[in-house]
Amino acid sequence: MSKPIIIANWKSNPSSEKEAILLAKKIEDGILNFRNVEIVVAVPFPFISSLRNSLKKIKLGAQNVFWEDCGPYTGEVSWRQLKNIGVKFIIIGHSERKIYLNETDDMINKKIKAVVWAGMHAILCIGERERIENDIPAIVGDQLRNALAGIKKNFIKNIIIAYEPIWAISTQSGSSPDTPDSAFRAMVYIRKIISDLYGRNIGDGARIIYGGSVNSRNISSFLKEGKMMGALVGGASLDAGEFIKLVKNIS
Ligand code: PGA
Repeated sequence: MSKPIIIANWKSNPSSEKEAILLAKKIEDGILNFRNVEIVVAVPFPFISSLRNSLKKIKLGAQNVFWEDCGPYTGEVSWRQLKNIGVKFIIIGHSERKIYLNETDDMINKKIKAVVWAGMHAILCIGERERIENDIPAIVGDQLRNALAGIKKNFIKNIIIAYEPIWAISTQSGSSPDTPDSAFRAMVYIRKIISDLYGRNIGDGARIIYGGSVNSRNISSFLKEGKMMGALVGGASLDAGEFIKLVKNIS
């Protein structure tokens, strides 16, 4: 069984390199002694190089990637550039990119393929815009199957699947976290799809995490009752004290 993984998603925060270094160092100092957890901080591109030199325990992540190696793609940051700078984890298909930048399932699939082929870890985000009934909507399964199209089974170990219902993200108006019980059902649903695609062993071993208004008070319930293997944490990762408490509560 792998250690739980907590992935901080800083989104487009903070506004300066100085603040980014300060926040990362505070977090690193606070989590140094927690051994039973893996921690990734996914930061904006401009801060990656300077944080690479100041972090030891925390692993560095990015929040997006371009699927081509390098070339005439103005404004894009390629998988090779990220790999060469020491990035090990890349968030792919976050709902904010789908909503504000029209990222499609096809683009997400290309990004995942490039990242896992390059030996990095993809953090694939899937989740529905709204939940009408108790069941996990079929769109979640469609997103997963589309993202994994054409990906061979030996690469699945390089993919972390983040179930992140959009309505649960803390910056959505009227948001509230999902319940551990429904996160559990999402976990079972996702595992079943992976088992159907790749076989029982791969399905059972897939790393599935939860995201959406996770904080130091609710994290344990998502891991214990929800049987999630970690969390993707937005807002709470920007407050060093709160983030350290969150990690402490599961380690
Ligand atoms: P939140 O964000 O923890 O602030 O809800 C999670 C995310 O969007 O990745």
